[in-house]
Amino acid sequence: MKLVAGNSNRPLAEAISTYLNTPLTKCIVRRFADMEIFVEVQENVRGEDVFVIQSTSAPANDHLMELLIIIDALRRASARRITAVVPYFGYARQDRKPGPRTPISAKLVANMITRAGADRVLTLDLHAGQIQGYFDIPTDNLFAAPVMVQDIREVFDVNNIMVVSPDVGGVVRARGLAKRIDAPLAIVDKRRENPGESEVMNVIGDVRGRNCVLVDDIVDSGGTLVNAADALLEKGANSVIAYITHGVLSGGAVSRVLGSQLKELVLTDSIRPTEAVENAHNIRILPIAPLLGEAIARTADEKSVSSLFY
Ligand code: R5P
Repeated sequence: MKLVAGNSNRPLAEAISTYLNTPLTKCIVRRFADMEIFVEVQENVRGEDVFVIQSTSAPANDHLMELLIIIDALRRASARRITAVVPYFGYARQDRKPGPRTPISAKLVANMITRAGADRVLTLDLHAGQIQGYFDIPTDNLFAAPVMVQDIREVFDVNNIMVVSPDVGGVVRARGLAKRIDAPLAIVDKRRENPGESEVMNVIGDVRGRNCVLVDDIVDSGGTLVNAADALLEKGANSVIAYITHGVLSGGAVSRVLGSQLKELVLTDSIRPTEAVENAHNIRILPIAPLLGEAIARTADEKSVSSLFY
């Protein structure tokens, strides 16, 4: 097995390498003066089972292009099998046409990864599970839920927890986590009753006196989370904490979280945490390398990956 890393999240790739006790393959991924990307794999990979670790996080286009070019280099170097390990799959929110004459960018990106030469894809908490079907190659969509559940059990009295989906679209994900800890489920339903009026946050479920755990795949601007936390506290929740797989945290998101009523925001390191994230007193990172590393080991050994989640 060989592990190759792009530049999007070197610490995660190194942590996976430590878990697997397999060094990262020497590989140069750098820019020419005009910012085109150049890749040179500096070890023989002929006949090898190669895993390329690269989240397509911001700057998404650069990181995606790095991934494609690394895959191309490996294919031309006669790697036996190439697995694109994409802990955070960017462009996933563009998974359907929201209106006429708009693209389905998630499908386009899936096509690009496949055409570049990937044989398999390993990813984590896809925005929508159906995106697996955008690839015509085997795609394993891992869940961060077991890692989150272990943390929740360590940090909370699970008897008083209410798992909450911050929007209607995330109900399936939140329900999955609620089932694992045998907790009830509430939903924040965001609605604009009439055009031009501001959104109303309705909470479905009785959250009075509960320690609420918001669960979502992505925190981007932080708006969804912060507004949901406000609505829950207004309805009498005791405290609100959030478990989110992918900390996109663009723009002023970290400041928004810092200034919010969220007791804590817990993220995985599928996206490399910025300095601001690392310094934020109410943001904590859960390492995801053991889960990814185990899934890589099982893929290499042709063992079951789904059994990680029973
Ligand atoms: C949307 O469907 C996603 O699951 C997240 O809820 C969303 O991307 C969060 O975005 P923001 O943090 O900008 O509100």
